[in-house]
This record gives sequence, structure tokens and C-alpha cells, in this order.
Amino acid sequence: MPLNKDRREVMKMGIAAGAALALSGTFPKFSWANVRTVSYEECLEMDALAIADNSQLVTDSYHYLINTAQGIKNKAIKKKVLEVLHNPAPTFAGDLQDRSNRRQVYDELKAKGFIKEIAFDAFLPPLKENDKSPFPFYAGSGSGYSGHHSYPGGLATHVAFNSRMATSLCDNYSKAYSCILDHDIALAAELLHDLTKPWVFQWTDSGESRTELQLAGTGEHHTYSVAESIVRGLPVEICVAQACAHEHPGFAKEEKKPVAWLTVAAILAGKDPIRHKLLAADGQTLPQPRRMENFVCHLADHDWVISAPAAKWIIPEMEKIALTSYGLKQDELKTRKFNQLRNYVFAQASIMELYQVFSTRGEDGLADFVQSIVTPPKTKTV
Ligand SMILES: [Fe+2]
Ligand SMILES: [Fe+2]
Repeated sequence: MPLNKDRREVMKMGIAAGAALALSGTFPKFSWANVRTVSYEECLEMDALAIADNSQLVTDSYHYLINTAQGIKNKAIKKKVLEVLHNPAPTFAGDLQDRSNRRQVYDELKAKGFIKEIAFDAFLPPLKENDKSPFPFYAGSGSGYSGHHSYPGGLATHVAFNSRMATSLCDNYSKAYSCILDHDIALAAELLHDLTKPWVFQWTDSGESRTELQLAGTGEHHTYSVAESIVRGLPVEICVAQACAHEHPGFAKEEKKPVAWLTVAAILAGKDPIRHKLLAADGQTLPQPRRMENFVCHLADHDWVISAPAAKWIIPEMEKIALTSYGLKQDELKTRKFNQLRNYVFAQASIMELYQVFSTRGEDGLADFVQSIVTPPKTKTV
């Protein structure tokens, strides 16, 4: 697929292919036939949206998410999940744009020990319009810039994999133990679990994403995403399951974490976590008995077990390839000249596919693969 086609044409093709996928429900899959090769000069000119739009893998992943959400049986939940996928605006942050409101919430979080490193002026990522996400869901990064799905569209590929995991786990528990879990809860929690990443990991002009801060001992996107589900009126069971994505509630030490994250999310959303039934009456545990969907949401978010180390090993390999095959200099590796190259290649192939190539074909195989996606400059100097 070319690659010198007008971008709008390419987008239309991607959307048409996505619509076909939505009808078939096919799981998105990397395929060489779908790679859109561009020159290095072309990829330097693209923004994050164009990079996501130009990836069949990303477009298919996003449409898979829409199709999967369409399968939620409860109409009210389905509507709310689809609204998030269409516009993951952090509406909970609307009231907090007012400086005195923000100060009040910040002081409460700090007094309760949830904020350790965030300065008041850095509290909450920039937000221009309260009701609009700065980037669409499909162009969101799936992680921080050194992390597991750090490219435009990485969020869609991450959540597509996870939501399939959630469905498979529900199916397996049913087959193995005859446990009939509430698939709507497990699936909605997974689809929503990283919903504020397009806001938290905003793309910058350097091609890098915003650096995430830590809130209550985890990446800030986590509590913000739960807060947004609370504010949008998702059922409590979904908000609680969502809070378990980063830790399971199976043991007292571990359970303290989702308890803290639900407390933070409730404060951000302007709710009392106990009165809103996000926690048990004593505020010390999750609502009891603890639902199995909480554990499913946690297990299904384990894509990172392979994808995080894959990113850790592939990013330095990409740097080597940029130096040897694209003529970049060492001091350009922290600039747009490198970031655009890695963003485009990662969005086309996924870090996972690149790692598969590297782990089976070595450095030379990876270098060939990368150069088939972005053609190096002829003179190796740009
Ligand atoms: Fe997360
Ligand atoms: Fe995640």
C-alpha cells in the first residue's frame, strides 16, 4: 500500500477497512500487506494523528474496539463506553480548571499522602477544552515514551489486546469452572481502563509524549481514568474493576492500592467513596464480597509483561538503526529527527512485531524490517 497517496485517501481506505472489520469482528493483526512505506522525509512531516491514521494496524484496532463495545448488552453502559471511545475528554477536570477548586482538591490529596512529587502548578495535564480530549482515542499513546506501546495509536492496540483477553478470561472461567462472570462489567472496565491516556500522554512538537507524573503510587492516568468513569455515571462495579487494572485485591497488602486509587478518583470526581459505594462501609477494602470481574480486569491488563521489556530492548535497537542507516547523529536521538522515525515504524508494525523480528532474526533482520517501513534518505543526511 503506498505510500505516496493523498493522506485523505489513505484515511478513507483505513476507515473503510475498519468498517469492514467492525462488521466481521476480526481481531486486528499486523500484516506486511498492510504496511504503508514512506520516506524518512515524509515521516518527518507527519503529526501524531497522521501517523495513527496511516497505520492499518491502529485503524483496525480502533474499529475493533468500537465493534467490541457494540457487543455490550446493557444499552446504557454501551452508550457510555462508545461515548468515551469517540471522545475521551477528561470531563472530571472541568471543575478543576478553576484555580481555587484545583487548590482545594490538590491540598486534600496532599494532606492524605496521595501526592508526593507533583507541584501544584503541574497538577493535572494541560486541557484547553473541558469537553474535548486534546487527542482522539485512536491516536493516543499506550504508555509513557519509554514504555510498552509508546507510539500514536499504541493505546488502541493495547486496549484491543486487553479487551480480547478480558473476553477470553470470562469464557475460560465459564468453560473451566462454570463461573458465569458479568461480561459487560469485565469488558467495559477493560475498554475504559486507560481512557485518559490521550490527555495524559499528549503528543508534543518534538514527537515525544508528555511525561507522566505519579499519583498515589501509580501513573496518574490510572486514577484520572477511574475518576472519569465515576463522573460519566458508569456503574460502580465497573469503576471498581477498572481500579484493579494496576493491582488485584486478593491480599490485604495489594488491596490497599485499589482502595487508595478509588479514594483518589472519588476526590477528583467530587464524590464520597463510601457513600458512592466504591469502597466497603469501613473504607478499608473494596466492596465485599469482592467481584471476580475485578481480578479479570487486572489479569487482562497484563499485555505489558512482554510488551514492556520488548520496548525496553527495541528502543535502543531503533537508536542504533537511526545512527547507522538514517544518518542521525548521537545528539539527535532525543529530537524529532529520531522520534518521528520510531513513532512511524512502531505505529505501522507495533513494538511487539518488531521484537518478534529482532528475537528471531537479530539486529540485521530488524534493520531490514525497519528500512522497509521508512525508506532511509539517499545521502543519509537530512
Ligand atoms: Fe493503566
Ligand atoms: Fe493498560
